[in-house]
Amino acid sequence: MSGETEAVNAKMEDLKVGETSQASEQNNAAEDGDKEDVVDPWTVATSSSKGIDYDKLIVRFGSTKIDDALLERFEKITGHKPHHFLRRGIFFSQRDLHLILTRYEAKKPFFLYTGSRGPSSTSMHVGHLIPFIFTKWLQDVFDVPLVIQLTDDEKFLWKDLKAEEANKLAYENAKDIIALGFDVNKTFIFSDMNYIASCPEFYRNMLKVQKCVTYNQVKGIFGFGDSDCIGKISFPAVQASPSFSNSFPAIFGTKKDIPCLIPCAIDQDPYFRMTRDVAPRLGYPKPALIHSTFFPALQGAQTKMSASDPNSSIFLTDTPKQIKTKINKYAFSGGGTSVEEHREKGGNCDVDIAYQYLTFFLEDDDRLAEFKEEYSSGRMLTGEIKKELITILQKMVAEIQERRKTVTSDLLKEFMTPRKLNCQS
Ligand code: TRP
Repeated sequence: MSGETEAVNAKMEDLKVGETSQASEQNNAAEDGDKEDVVDPWTVATSSSKGIDYDKLIVRFGSTKIDDALLERFEKITGHKPHHFLRRGIFFSQRDLHLILTRYEAKKPFFLYTGSRGPSSTSMHVGHLIPFIFTKWLQDVFDVPLVIQLTDDEKFLWKDLKAEEANKLAYENAKDIIALGFDVNKTFIFSDMNYIASCPEFYRNMLKVQKCVTYNQVKGIFGFGDSDCIGKISFPAVQASPSFSNSFPAIFGTKKDIPCLIPCAIDQDPYFRMTRDVAPRLGYPKPALIHSTFFPALQGAQTKMSASDPNSSIFLTDTPKQIKTKINKYAFSGGGTSVEEHREKGGNCDVDIAYQYLTFFLEDDDRLAEFKEEYSSGRMLTGEIKKELITILQKMVAEIQERRKTVTSDLLKEFMTPRKLNCQS
């Protein structure tokens, strides 16, 4: 029995005693005197000021930690130094990444699959960028086809939003994504609402997944309840289907044996545990995964970023002035309460949001190490570390805004048209 099947069944056991899986996990944790983090596609919550305990999450989800040996193998096979997201443990967990590297080594084809439901506002925030920045890098390293799913259907089902609005937002988000620099010759971006209606092969795969998974199982995996609409209950099949190469006949023809690698935040793992469980039964390879940690809100790792709270993050539409004000005003500080105290005791990088954001956006390892040393020792002040971050984010956001202006409707249309992609493998 596969690990995934065991995980699914374990959750089903919980349901038999009439509890939701989450509630029972919390009860067990309460007995341990230590509250479990809640991580699923809709909720990320922790009571610890240090944020989510990712090592515990790996054990609970049954994935594998990315260790030095894997990074060494990655570098040896691809000839690329691992991205700073990998070096710093931001992408920290995986499933079957070794198999993908083995295929790359043997020059056998595979593809990349990622996605986004996008924000409720028309703009994405910098946290949304993390999986995309990483996926773009993987595309450059591997030179393989990439498919990006925009789940306007998911958004319609979960939010108070008209179908037409959700669809329109998908196109706005696509422009932000394109502005990160994806190669149009290697990338297909699709809105579920549009693509599913035009591609019988995709819909057929959805049906196959739907036939394989029972209501009890999705309840166990996702915690759906009796009053959730049936659209939500069948949605996991939509997110599963792009994992299968024959869902994209324009790219892969009728080939059904090309596996994919999915970069995503770890909260998306439940979808792909389910996918990996059904894949062999449908005669398809299991998708491989590479998981990231969560991007913290300005207010601290304990709080959740929310697209509806403009002060909880930096948005791609923010002006340089807004970026400066938000970071100075809202970024949670691990520094001392007074300059004297800070000089004496130093800052706490583990909780300091300016430092945390620098680990995401400052590529230079030496400078980052220097800031850590200077800030922890109290020689560098909170205002000074914030200033470094402000400069980096202002530059990054301005560059994306500039590139977004060059995304014409023709270019958008090309990215979103099913077509043959042009890659080495
Ligand atoms: N459900 C994801 C979200 O809410 C969107 C998504 C669809 C996705 N397919 C994916 C994310 C594949 C990562 C990988 O944003």
